[in-house]
Amino acid sequence: MATSPDTNISTSDSLKYWNSIPTTVDGMLGGYPRISRTDLKGSANFLAKLRREYPSPSSNGTLKRGVDCGAGIGRVTAGFLSTVCETIDVVEPIEKFANEVKGAEMAGSGQVGNVYVSGLEDWVPEQQYDLIWNQWCLGHLKDKELVEYLQRCKKAVTIDGWIVVKENMSTNRDWEDIFDETDSSVTRTNEKFHQLFKEADIRCMKTELQRGFPKGLYPVRLYALKP
Ligand SMILES: C[S@@+](CC[C@H](N)C(=O)[O-])C[C@H]1O[C@@H](n2cnc3c(N)ncnc32)[C@H](O)[C@@H]1O
Repeated sequence: MATSPDTNISTSDSLKYWNSIPTTVDGMLGGYPRISRTDLKGSANFLAKLRREYPSPSSNGTLKRGVDCGAGIGRVTAGFLSTVCETIDVVEPIEKFANEVKGAEMAGSGQVGNVYVSGLEDWVPEQQYDLIWNQWCLGHLKDKELVEYLQRCKKAVTIDGWIVVKENMSTNRDWEDIFDETDSSVTRTNEKFHQLFKEADIRCMKTELQRGFPKGLYPVRLYALKP
């Protein structure tokens, strides 16, 4: 059996890569800063639809506590999560990025709460969250680490809360995940994500593709998950 691409992931290589990247939106988005607006809008629309389709006592109001996982410099925290959450915790392994989030200007009234300088493979949530947002960072976790991480998220999400995953999709013709040695990450197929959700015993309640990104980029998919 061929080895799974995720076995190539090296945490020290990815930390080395990200430490070499400037604390800018351009750095976070690999040279495509202009997609940030469309991305944040797509995320806001997805969450709004989700809350309409699954009404709960907290459907209309602001969410009490969210967490931006693999937050980088806080692009998503500042540009989107601050408009829907009162407090946003941050998990990010690169210290210079995490420090940047603390000083970031928020688009909404939400404020940054706890900042955990940690990789998600080591992070054990201490709070209950209404929204656990994971974007463009889960490729740094091996398959087994991702399943274990999702199992921890399951315990950390409130009864009406959501775990959202927003990630690039593999376009490999043989339906395989793709290892990228530049940042030591893996780009998974939609099928692999569903397989890992199943292994973590987590339900996918809604999924859709992000629209409006330039051609030539990987397709990006959002998943809304519940225990
Ligand atoms: C492409 S950036 C995305 C940042 C942010 N989520 C956004 O959308 O703007 C990837 C981020 O993942 C972080 N990262 C790298 N390894 C990680 C790990 N093991 N756990 C969590 N985040 C990690 C990087 O430091 C970087 O901030």
